[in-house]
Amino acid sequence: MSIKAVVFDAYGTLYDIQSVADVTEDAFPGYGEIITQVWRIKQLEYTWLRSLMQRYRDFDAVTRDSLAYTLRMLGLAYDSEAFDRVIEKYLHLDLYPDATSALAALRPRKLAILSNGSPDMLDGLVHNTGLDRLLDATISVDAKKIFKPSPQAYQLIGEVLGTTPDEVLFVSSNPWDVAGAKSFGLNVAWIERVTPEAMALACVENELVAPLTMFRAIRTQMDELGFAPDHRVRSLSELPTIRPPVRLE
Ligand code: LAC
Repeated sequence: MSIKAVVFDAYGTLYDIQSVADVTEDAFPGYGEIITQVWRIKQLEYTWLRSLMQRYRDFDAVTRDSLAYTLRMLGLAYDSEAFDRVIEKYLHLDLYPDATSALAALRPRKLAILSNGSPDMLDGLVHNTGLDRLLDATISVDAKKIFKPSPQAYQLIGEVLGTTPDEVLFVSSNPWDVAGAKSFGLNVAWIERVTPEAMALACVENELVAPLTMFRAIRTQMDELGFAPDHRVRSLSELPTIRPPVRLE
């Protein structure tokens, strides 16, 4: 079966999500790197959590919530202007330098994006970076109100492009997205931007941040999912002291 359409993931695949680092560093000097990394980790985590919780909010909201989490976790004060300046970068992310020429070379196949991004985010980004002139479709999972790697998200490709899974080559640098697309039945190309050799070198050159600090940063603070506990205690031993909420008859 020949490939009739090549469909790309957006963030991390055509667009460099690390390109927010200048803006985060500019808005919060000294914190750019940690904000950039925790923000992306939490952003993806919230897509999966919300999908499992059946509490969909679009990727714009998830991107804001995960940035709010990150800044709160770091104890950084900010006003809405600084917050919006960082968020705004999502409409102007850098394309990978070879993105445009690669897309052009894949013609005359149909070319599309399938992304977790909300329609407004994706349309703005694609327009601002000129990819709208090369793409046949920009498909947002928002139509299904569930995020990749749900099969319902990948199903949109066929629904929009009129293709069967074996006619599609799906391209992503995100390993979880590669697994999801493959599980759905698409042909998949993984852009392996960080090789095991590069990882080994980074470890030798001591690029590791304190792993426990990273764990604490992403796993121990209350999440921005719109739900708060009824009680907050510091240890198990405090549990007997909590009082149930007052019930009005
Ligand atoms: C995308 C992100 C999540 O779907 O990589 O574009």
